[in-house]
Amino acid sequence: MNFLNKLFGWFSADLAMDLGTANTLIYAKGKGIVLNEPSVVAVNTNEQRVEAVGFEAKQMYGRTHSQIEAIRPMKDGVIADFDVTNTMINYFIKKVLKNQRFVKPRMVVGIPTCITQVEKKAVIDASIMAGVREVHLVEEPMAAAIGVGIPTHKPEGNMVIDIGGGTTDVAVISLSAIAYGESVRLAGDEIDEAIVRYMRIAHHLNIGIFEGERVKMAIGSAYPLLKKLTTDVKGLNVKTGVPMSLAIDDEEIREAMKEPVATIITIVLRALEKVPPELSADIHSNGIYLTGGGALIRGLDKLIEEKTSLKVYTPEDPLLSICKGAGAILDNFYEMKKVCIY
Ligand SMILES: Nc1ncnc2c1ncn2[C@@H]1O[C@H](COP(=O)(O)OP(=O)(O)OP(=O)(O)O)[C@@H](O)[C@H]1O
Ligand SMILES: [Mg+2]
Repeated sequence: MNFLNKLFGWFSADLAMDLGTANTLIYAKGKGIVLNEPSVVAVNTNEQRVEAVGFEAKQMYGRTHSQIEAIRPMKDGVIADFDVTNTMINYFIKKVLKNQRFVKPRMVVGIPTCITQVEKKAVIDASIMAGVREVHLVEEPMAAAIGVGIPTHKPEGNMVIDIGGGTTDVAVISLSAIAYGESVRLAGDEIDEAIVRYMRIAHHLNIGIFEGERVKMAIGSAYPLLKKLTTDVKGLNVKTGVPMSLAIDDEEIREAMKEPVATIITIVLRALEKVPPELSADIHSNGIYLTGGGALIRGLDKLIEEKTSLKVYTPEDPLLSICKGAGAILDNFYEMKKVCIY
């Protein structure tokens, strides 16, 4: 049995990938999610050599010297730097396939709904260059819906909101397709930037983008909290030029991130207005599913419930929804491939 499993493993190495602005996840058929790392690559600019990829490279971000540059090759949900993305996908796939070097896998990849033909082609080309035999693309909200267990094939409307690092996707799914979809290039990254801006203006404190993200995760919220939260924010005092740390509470950070959060709410309300009445009635009874890392913002579900008067559901680990959904398509490929757009 063990031998058979091993043999089978040699020939079947199909993968599903959530190539995100902030994180890349890979699902391997029969194994589950086998990789979950930041979409960051550190490059030595002097020698044109890759120093690190993933976790290790994220640690280097903002801490590098003049010869090493840490790059986030994905921006706003799409490939911004083709060569570096290519290197990253290659590295991740090799890491996952380890000793199955000769296997050319089939791969299902999640892409944002707003993606252009050129951007789609970039994803396909980068995957092929990484050794993938057959690439299939699925729109991220569709993958997210499957990932949270919505019966997407039914003639019934379900709304999914996926808030990632670079894009927010709002979609209504019915009959294995996206009946209405909207995608905007505003998500977690914008919230981090808003926190960085706020610290500079209100406290003359210059902080890095990942410190902004850390603060958001530690104490950020979209709705007043029952219990006060504080964190020490570290940065450079722009007046004195000296590094310092400042205790900040949740109320200030809620104020700092108010604008991008309000924009996300506006997009959701606009989508609800545009949905045809039958689907709208379904959403009224089924509620809204919130996925992506943005679903972890404290009180965002409550704020959406208050603004829309609809019930909001968040899965246990919203960061995994797209990858799980893409994996489910792979597991049942011949039945499910109709949801893929390529
Ligand atoms: N606990 C948390 N609280 C608030 N935000 C969080 C938390 N954990 C992760 N995030 C945010 O979620 C975002 C990453 O989510 P996700 O991995 O879904 O994005 P992505 O798929 O890489 O991006 P995209 O889908 O836009 O390409 C980041 O902005 C990150 O800061
Ligand atoms: Mg995503």
